[in-house]
Amino acid sequence: MADRIGFTLWFTGLSGAGKSTLAEALSARMNALELAHEILDGDIVRTNLSKGLGFSKEDRDTNIRRIGFVANLLTRNGVPVMTAAISPYKAIREECRALIGPDSFVEVHVHAPLEVLIERDTKGLYKKALAGEIKEFTGVSDPYEEPENPDVKVHTHEESVEESLEKIWAHLKERGFVE
Ligand code: ADX
Repeated sequence: MADRIGFTLWFTGLSGAGKSTLAEALSARMNALELAHEILDGDIVRTNLSKGLGFSKEDRDTNIRRIGFVANLLTRNGVPVMTAAISPYKAIREECRALIGPDSFVEVHVHAPLEVLIERDTKGLYKKALAGEIKEFTGVSDPYEEPENPDVKVHTHEESVEESLEKIWAHLKERGFVE
């Protein structure tokens, strides 16, 4: 049995909303506290574990199931995990919650209005999606099913990274995952 408490902090939200930024910020805080943890970032997972998968619903579901599978292995061995993938479909997020166990699962909706993300366009992908050069782009030409009842919702267009992080940290504390 694991002697540490594992959990999966599941970030979900549109591309560019700030999932990876928040995972990195949380990681830095956990490093400072010498808390072992792992990040499963969509962009990175897609270069190895999910290499070759595209963005059809079927491929996204496969990608998310793989992330959920690994997150569960780590969580049940006491390793906190942060996942940072769009994970646009509610049913698969719920499947991951059930697999990992609701008591060990923290859903964080990373929200910013689409207009803000188009304006930010950190990777230049929204411009291409709007021009039709990228098909099935989440939020533009592909669905994003918002979480109805996330454990935490952060609004990255109105909050600093630090403010969003504090909201998440407070929730983790409340649940007894961190001190
Ligand atoms: S998910 O839908 O399967 O959860 P994931 O988070 O792994 O997506 O990958 C999303 C990232 O892939 C985006 O941040 C973006 O950089 C890139 N990307 C490329 N094509 C698309 C697309 N059609 N829709 C969304 N993201 C895309």
